[in-house]
Order: sequence, then structure tokens, then C-alpha cells
Amino acid sequence: MNTVSAEYFFFKNLNEMWQFMAAKWREIASDAIEGKGYFAVAVSGGKTPVGFYQRLAAISGLPWSKTHIFLVDERFVPLFHPESNYGMLRENLLKKISIPAQNLHYISTLESSPSAAAEIYEEELRAFFKLPEGGVPEFDLILLGIGEDGHTASLFPGSEALKERKHLTAPVTLNRLLRDRVTLTLPVINNAKNVVFLVSGKHKAAVARKLLDEKDHSLPASMVKPEKGRLFFLMESEARAS
Ligand code: 6PG
Repeated sequence: MNTVSAEYFFFKNLNEMWQFMAAKWREIASDAIEGKGYFAVAVSGGKTPVGFYQRLAAISGLPWSKTHIFLVDERFVPLFHPESNYGMLRENLLKKISIPAQNLHYISTLESSPSAAAEIYEEELRAFFKLPEGGVPEFDLILLGIGEDGHTASLFPGSEALKERKHLTAPVTLNRLLRDRVTLTLPVINNAKNVVFLVSGKHKAAVARKLLDEKDHSLPASMVKPEKGRLFFLMESEARAS
């Protein structure tokens, strides 16, 4: 049951939003490292966070050797494909920082199918977080975006993956344009200590209205309700314009 209410922050422009997000990243990372020795973060793909990853890459003194980066979701394309989320992250952040290879937890798309890739990613999560049977990882931070149809991660309206409660990951079958995908599931997202939605651009205003004003509970993004963590909406003012 969600007992946590969301915290909303609005920004005049992306520059201010990224500055705020970078400070939040630093604060969450240092608390996590102080507490347990490492910071575990799952990041999203898509276009919105590109500028943020570039910003992070330019900041000195971030504790990369103690940061473990996972992906929230991945399109089932080769890692060097222009639509690969890992590829985007590599180009904008990973290749510009010094981080040990074992700290990078990508979703392998070399497997025979999205289901096989989802199983392997789930095993990786179980091993990294040393999970007992039925255990769920507790990420320090999960960064999410929102699609115009209200999807988040690769949890699309009406999809089977949205109903998954047992597995940590799920394969997602979509049309050719959207690509098949692998995604973290709601139990993982809702077990995080901090979940941040990054929302920017005029084209997101309609979905933002449905989510925040009309409280449309049918949207996948509205099912993100961290059970004990904090939920933040960071929104560029354009995305909030009526
Ligand atoms: C992806 C995502 C997805 C994304 C939204 C918003 O791989 O596409 O992880 O959930 O965050 O679709 O995408 P944009 O930022 O491109 O609008």
C-alpha cells in the first residue's frame, strides 16, 4: 500500500532540471555509499535523459567506482544499434567516465529471445543483490521517463508485463516500430528507495495532465507507488503547460 506522497518540482528549463537532478544523484549516492558501501541505480533510455547523462559525465568527483548502473529497460536490438538504451548511455555517459566494467549491468540482447534475456537479467539482479527466494532488489535510485501513452519503463498500457508480480524482469512484445523489449517490473520499481520521473517537452503536457490532474489510474506511470521510498516528479514547465 502506498503511504508515500509524491514530491513535485517544476523547472523553467532543462538546465535547471539537470542541475537539480545532479545534486539529488550526488546526495542519494553518498548516503547509499555511507550506509552500505555502494550505490545501485537503474536508469531509463529514451530521449529525455540524454542531456542529464551528458551533464553527469561532466561532473567531477562522483563516486563511480562504488556506483553500480543497471538499466530500467532495453529494446531488443544489438547494443550498438541507434535505439539501444545501453548504446545511448554509453555514448553520453559511460565512455566519458572512469567506471569499472563490473559496475555496468546491461541487458544482454545477444540471447535468442526477449524472454531469455529477461531471465538472464533477473539472475544478474538476484546475484548482485544476493536475494533470497522471493526477494526483491532495493535500488537506491530508479530514473524513469513517461511516454505520451502513459507508459513508463517498458510497461505499456494493457501489456502482460504490467501485471507481473512474481518476476523482477519481463519480456515485452510490441510492434516493429517500438521494438520488443525487456523491462524491470513494478515490484522492483516500487521497492526502490527513490524513484524519479523526468518529464520534459510540450508533447508530454497531455499525459502529465492525465496523470497529475485527472489522476488517471489506468496509466502504467500511475502504478508507480514506492512502498517505502520517495517518489519525485521533475518537470520542465513546458510539460506542465495547458
Ligand atoms: C525507453 C524507456 C521509456 C522512456 C519513455 C519516454 O526505452 O524508451 O525507458 O520508458 O522513458 O518512453 O521516452 P522519451 O524520453 O524518449 O520521451
